[in-house]
Amino acid sequence: MFELPDQLMFLKNGRAKQKHSNESMQGKLCIVSGATSGVGYQAVKALANGGANIVMVVRNIEKAIAVKQEIEQNYSVDVDYYIADFSKLNQVKKAAKLILNDYSKIDVLINSVGIHSTKRMLNENGYEMVFCVNHLGSFLLTNLLLERLIESAPARIIQVNSEGHRFNGLDINDLNWERRIYTGLRRNGASKVEQLLTVWKFAERLKGTGVTINAMHPGGVRTNIGNNNGLLYRLFLHNITWHFLKNPKISGEALYYLASSKDLDNVSGKFYNLTIEEKPAKHALDVKLQKEIWEISLEMTSLEEKGE
Ligand SMILES: NC(=O)c1ccc[n+]([C@@H]2O[C@H](COP(=O)([O-])OP(=O)(O)OC[C@H]3O[C@@H](n4cnc5c(N)ncnc54)[C@H](OP(=O)(O)O)[C@@H]3O)[C@@H](O)[C@H]2O)c1
Repeated sequence: MFELPDQLMFLKNGRAKQKHSNESMQGKLCIVSGATSGVGYQAVKALANGGANIVMVVRNIEKAIAVKQEIEQNYSVDVDYYIADFSKLNQVKKAAKLILNDYSKIDVLINSVGIHSTKRMLNENGYEMVFCVNHLGSFLLTNLLLERLIESAPARIIQVNSEGHRFNGLDINDLNWERRIYTGLRRNGASKVEQLLTVWKFAERLKGTGVTINAMHPGGVRTNIGNNNGLLYRLFLHNITWHFLKNPKISGEALYYLASSKDLDNVSGKFYNLTIEEKPAKHALDVKLQKEIWEISLEMTSLEEKGE
């Protein structure tokens, strides 16, 4: 039978029958960034349905309160939240510090925070916004919570990544897109490659600790992503792309599987298309780039920031 080459398997895997987990998450503590919308919100619902207590790391307090109220009304779990705008690394640091102060055990960390921007924007440190929100922010939060996850082992980290990493766009000498023509797709792809390269590095470091880290593509699903862009983009998104996108419930279910299934007890450093393990694009496996992006990310996130 005709088999697709590894690099095109994502076409098949996204439509394949997905795996499910009936494992209980009763009493587990799951931290979810980007929990106020889309994939992160669906993950919170699925985890709460499985009995997990939730800590959200989000930027919008009104949305945080609304999700907390909704989840606590519908499930017998506790929901807490910490405010951090991931484009401001000092806020991520502050939230991590408070979490470490308040929680002695973390079972799962899911980073679902993310944006897609058709325009190049810079944050207050001069870092390109998508790079900062999609990669540096989640890299920083993961690093700051790492010791606590190790103390809590067995524990799991899941980075919500994307098949968009296949668009690449990573140029180690131009992380801020100063020298090239910026495009939303390639910038997004670059941020996902940056994150993937550090997932392999985290996995290497976490060997033998009982903490696993994996990345996943949450499916092409109907969420708020891209709604920050211009009218033309939004018209296209809602009138054309929308018809090809799926219900984001599948992302929550997939994250529940990845967070709870015994199938993944000792699995680390892998990429999943929803629940199906898949080979990432070659450029996202480059060993030299892994080291480079890891070191640059460490350097960029340890900067003392203004306004702390
Ligand atoms: N939807 C898809 O088809 C798809 C496909 C591939 C990958 N993904 C990935 O899935 C992840 C979640 O995206 P989504 O589709 O669920 O989009 P979404 O509905 O827009 O959710 C994104 C979440 O990230 C938060 N966020 C955005 N910018 C932030 C910032 N500066 N600081 C703190 N939080 C911020 C949003 O907060 P607010 O609610 O306050 O806006 C929201 O909670 C992203 O990493 C995305 O790249 C999505």
